[in-house]
Amino acid sequence: MDATLYESDPETREHVVFQLGRSGRPVTSFGDLHLVPGEPVPSYWHRNHWFEPVTLPATSVSEAAAGLRSLGALWTARPQDQFRRHTLIQEKLPRFSPKPRAFPFTPPAGNLGAWALRDETTLWASPKTSSPFPGGDPLLVENKIDPPSSAYRKLQEALLLAGRRPGPGEVCLDAGSCPGGWTWVLAELGATVHSVDRASLDSRVSSRPNVAFRTGNAFALKPADFGPLDWFCCDVICYPAKLWDWLQPWLAAGTVKNFVVTVKMQGKDIDWDTLDRFAAVAGSRLVHLHHNKHELTWLWPAIGPSATSQ
Ligand SMILES: C[S@@+](CC[C@H](N)C(=O)[O-])C[C@H]1O[C@@H](n2cnc3c(N)ncnc32)[C@H](O)[C@@H]1O
Repeated sequence: MDATLYESDPETREHVVFQLGRSGRPVTSFGDLHLVPGEPVPSYWHRNHWFEPVTLPATSVSEAAAGLRSLGALWTARPQDQFRRHTLIQEKLPRFSPKPRAFPFTPPAGNLGAWALRDETTLWASPKTSSPFPGGDPLLVENKIDPPSSAYRKLQEALLLAGRRPGPGEVCLDAGSCPGGWTWVLAELGATVHSVDRASLDSRVSSRPNVAFRTGNAFALKPADFGPLDWFCCDVICYPAKLWDWLQPWLAAGTVKNFVVTVKMQGKDIDWDTLDRFAAVAGSRLVHLHHNKHELTWLWPAIGPSATSQ
């Protein structure tokens, strides 16, 4: 196929299809799989990008499995229908059943492929996909005891995607930090954390020796207030345009080594102009994490296992 394929989730399908349509090319959708002819186009909301998808014959389970085996990947089925038949085919492929792992870990090496039956006689497959996680799911072991909010999973996933993480001796700012999931992640990694929010931080997190919490308005913070920062993390709830404006002096100052910023949509509308501004920052990437809801994550710089493609 001279096409590129983007996979959405039911919650993001509308945004994926709308943005692909902005390219001016026709979009062919089959469930959560969306084909666009030609080279990749800008896309922020997909869960996985299938590179160089191909159509394979699948008139029988054996034929489908043989075709997939010949492409030599670690396969994850992404069924849109015919669920039982997908299971039968997947059982005939080299065993690949990744288990949830505790953060931090190194994502699996090797080509992660994705496939789905298209109809009774054909399937779509791609032996290479953009996500370093099987089917786009980081499969993180949940910690329901220590972090004070489930938001910690977003930062863990972002750091796995970035392929690097803060450590002892590094200094982080966590803006919009309460109740403290992200600050907990950063502190657990041994970094020094300046944590800022208008609300209060969970005392189990604020009492840690490497956490300095201050109550206040994140938008009043300036680069000079901190000096060099290894990590600038932000999960503040605000309009994307306000976030963009606030970030400009931080980007211009050149004092921040890494940004992990949640860009939250307000209401149903998507501020595409501002999203395009984030995505246009050289060397950055704007992605929809498995653990993102009605929001995207902006990462700079975009070094990581799949940074060459989004
Ligand atoms: C989604 S929550 C952050 C969750 C946090 N990352 C965690 O892991 O627990 C958003 C936070 O942004 C904070 N916030 C919103 N506007 C703010 C502002 N102008 N200055 C500081 N914090 C703000 C809210 O008080 C709220 O705690």
